[in-house]
Amino acid sequence: MIHFNQPAIVGKELHYISQAILSRHASGNGPFSQRCQALIARMLGAPSVLLTTSCTDALEMTALLLDIEPGDEVIVPSFTFVSTPNAFVLHGAKPVFVDIRPDTLNMDETRLEALITPRTRAIVPVHYAGVGCEMDVIVDIAARHGIGVVEDNAHGFCGAYRGKPLGTFGALATLSFHETKNFTCGEGGVLVINDERDSGRAEIIWEKGTNRSRFVRGQVDKYTWVDVGSSHLPSDILAAFLLAQLESRESIQSRRREIWERYYRDLEAWAGSADVRLPVVPAYCEQSFHLFYLLMPSAESRKALIRHLRASDIHAVFHYLPLHLSPMGLRYGGSHGQCPVTESVSDRLLRLPLFFDMMEQEQDRVVEALRGFRLP
Ligand SMILES: Cc1ncc(COP(=O)(O)O)c(C=O)c1O
Repeated sequence: MIHFNQPAIVGKELHYISQAILSRHASGNGPFSQRCQALIARMLGAPSVLLTTSCTDALEMTALLLDIEPGDEVIVPSFTFVSTPNAFVLHGAKPVFVDIRPDTLNMDETRLEALITPRTRAIVPVHYAGVGCEMDVIVDIAARHGIGVVEDNAHGFCGAYRGKPLGTFGALATLSFHETKNFTCGEGGVLVINDERDSGRAEIIWEKGTNRSRFVRGQVDKYTWVDVGSSHLPSDILAAFLLAQLESRESIQSRRREIWERYYRDLEAWAGSADVRLPVVPAYCEQSFHLFYLLMPSAESRKALIRHLRASDIHAVFHYLPLHLSPMGLRYGGSHGQCPVTESVSDRLLRLPLFFDMMEQEQDRVVEALRGFRLP
């Protein structure tokens, strides 16, 4: 069986994990956490970053930092994971769903202004497949309306938009290190704080609402409860796992790039003849090589292709269901036809196996199986 995903193992993970255990600092914000944070901050050029237990967790921190209240509205794409709106809905906000662009499958920035109301507090772009949203336009709209931008960059770590790293456009951004992502520690994430004014409060929220981080740095002689917060820190054992992966980022990314580019090259002619659309990456976007997807001509052809690949022991998977049509989305007034591109793409998109350890012969098999597929 060729799996859809297999988390990378680069070699140093167990060594670092045992060091974290033997150092007797297995709790959060230990030496490995600090090394990961320093490395990620350097890679992004961000003033501060905090490791979290997941991207979901980091998104929940952004809702606390923005003081989201009942009745606030947050604009999110309908074509995303549930955590994008859920983090804000937890605090009583209403998710306002925006459709996606037919080319990059990112939030359609031309539809944003019509959705803004006096209650809009944030726009949450998701860089689908690690290809940047139209951030120039989104940041400009948000600034003109005095609204926050929180980038859900679960897919796009190492990607860039017009030369600037994804995750550095919003005042806040989040990353995921779930095992389906390019770099992993099983479950993990990051909150990126791009506006230095948020750094102090972010650290307090991260440390259960206390000023413990200042105490650890010797800036206060005791620590106490100073704000709302929760336990958002991962264990240093997980940070040790993550550091091993981040240190191997060049080999992980270059292998993923090879696989992605080979899919594109080898499938271009077949896709043209089978009415299948391959991913669109604008020239000014450096993508993260997170996903390779096909857009099939219809829901039926996708179903037939999944079955065809299964028969060759190849596991290819669809992706998000439209959130505005989910049971929760319907509660917020979602209706059929509200986000037509999302509805259509969600029925037709298929993700191909793509992982660091994927062997050339495995990719040959996937390409051959696809070339042998005939539309029903
Ligand atoms: C766009 C997006 N945001 C957030 C998440 C949640 O990430 P995590 O599993 O790290 O909480 C995902 C999960 O895949 C995602 O695709």
